[in-house]
Amino acid sequence: MEPTTIVLFGATGDLAKRKIYPALYNLYVEGKLPEPFSLIGLGRRDWSDGRFKDAVAQSLEEFSRRKAQDAGKLQSFLDAFRYSVLDIGREEDYQRLLSLVEKREEELRMPPNRLFYLSVGPEYFEPIAANIQKSGLGSANGWKRLVIEKPFGHDLRSARELNKKLSKSFTEEEIFRIDHYLGKPMVQRLESLQQGNPVIQALWDNRYIANVQITASETVGVEERAGYYDHVGAVRDMFQNHMLQLLMMTAIHVPHDSSAETVRFKKKGIMEALELVQKEDVHASVVRGQYAAGAIGGKPVPGYTSEPGVMPGSQNDTFIAAKLMIDNNLWRGVPFYIRTGKRMKEKSTRIVVEFKEPVKQALAANEDGTSPNLLVIEIGPNEGFKLQINAKEPGRDGRFKPIQIELQPNEADAPEAYENLIYDALRGDSTFFAHWDEVEMSWQWVQPVLDAFEENLVPLYPYEAGSYGPAAADELLARDGYRWWSGD
Ligand code: BG6
Repeated sequence: MEPTTIVLFGATGDLAKRKIYPALYNLYVEGKLPEPFSLIGLGRRDWSDGRFKDAVAQSLEEFSRRKAQDAGKLQSFLDAFRYSVLDIGREEDYQRLLSLVEKREEELRMPPNRLFYLSVGPEYFEPIAANIQKSGLGSANGWKRLVIEKPFGHDLRSARELNKKLSKSFTEEEIFRIDHYLGKPMVQRLESLQQGNPVIQALWDNRYIANVQITASETVGVEERAGYYDHVGAVRDMFQNHMLQLLMMTAIHVPHDSSAETVRFKKKGIMEALELVQKEDVHASVVRGQYAAGAIGGKPVPGYTSEPGVMPGSQNDTFIAAKLMIDNNLWRGVPFYIRTGKRMKEKSTRIVVEFKEPVKQALAANEDGTSPNLLVIEIGPNEGFKLQINAKEPGRDGRFKPIQIELQPNEADAPEAYENLIYDALRGDSTFFAHWDEVEMSWQWVQPVLDAFEENLVPLYPYEAGSYGPAAADELLARDGYRWWSGD
């Protein structure tokens, strides 16, 4: 890995503290950071280098999966950190930043490879990118990369505008859009599941698969984020990005080659084949819900509109379920059902692949005891695979009964999503980042849904906190003869 300077905007913020510093430290301990590396933290607060290093050390104490027990190691890690005050709109501040970056590059005898990590609100992406360009920070004789976090736009139009502006300063190859779901170890294993297992590879299409169910349920409510969440809802917060990325990662076929180019090409193919829904028809394939009062783990919790900061009478969606169809030869006829919501029964991200039931059809009886074969992929917080198959009880007249084979990858100390993603960004591997084509096509699918919500063409169903969402989400599958396979 080439020596690199990480220029971190938003260095005093919450994401940096909770995710970025712990991830960097764990990479450092594992010898997975560039040698040497330099990190320049930027924020509005008037901090000294010492104050900054203390804050980083504190964040490791609180949030790192590995505590910094070795004082010498911690010290040498922190030696790489410097701080500079920066007002995002002030050009002079970028000049000062440039001098500091160059000074450190000289001290450490590093080439000018610079990774700009924007851990700031999306309204700052464009001015920062433009100032990087203008100040000369981005035009040195090494490589430059831009790492940004969602949201990438608020709708299709704003996403396109943002991308146009960013592309004035960075090429697509230089932009690394983080979707932290793509960093989750089980999501990164999805392709190897096919690659390493001909038995799964052979079954991965519409000849054998009846439907695919992707659920990301959370037990938390809006927390302290109403100012943000009340304007975006589950559709923008989770569906447009994480959920559609999970759909792409499940549907692609990459049996032999999982290079970044191939994965991107295949994901793009899936999005191109995704059937778009007209605004007027959204109600038939999309269910929206909002949590009402209920109980989580036996503890009563208020309904969404009683949460602090939520607008009175808010029509915001805290739950969305949808049926999506991929119109290509491999997936035609196989519904992909997606649901995500806050204040649901369990915290779980899970993909369930339900296989067709030729035995049931052959026996033409519903008393045979069989249940569909299921492949359950637990993405988080538990990780693992489960395969449900039918076994016959002994004796000629024995009935079938489903049994489950569980495979729990034994990784107590698995890296966190941010470790995987930062490591890849430093190496320049873009496999697990969202390409603009994917982002744009995701918004294309979502836009009619946003319009239908806006114009109230889709009912907003209340659901009890602590449930699996509104009954309408069950009906969405029941109409096709299926049911959601949940954890219980
Ligand atoms: C974030 C959303 O992207 O993902 C949050 O903004 C959500 O609202 C979170 O809680 C869920 O992530 P995870 O990794 O806990 O499933």
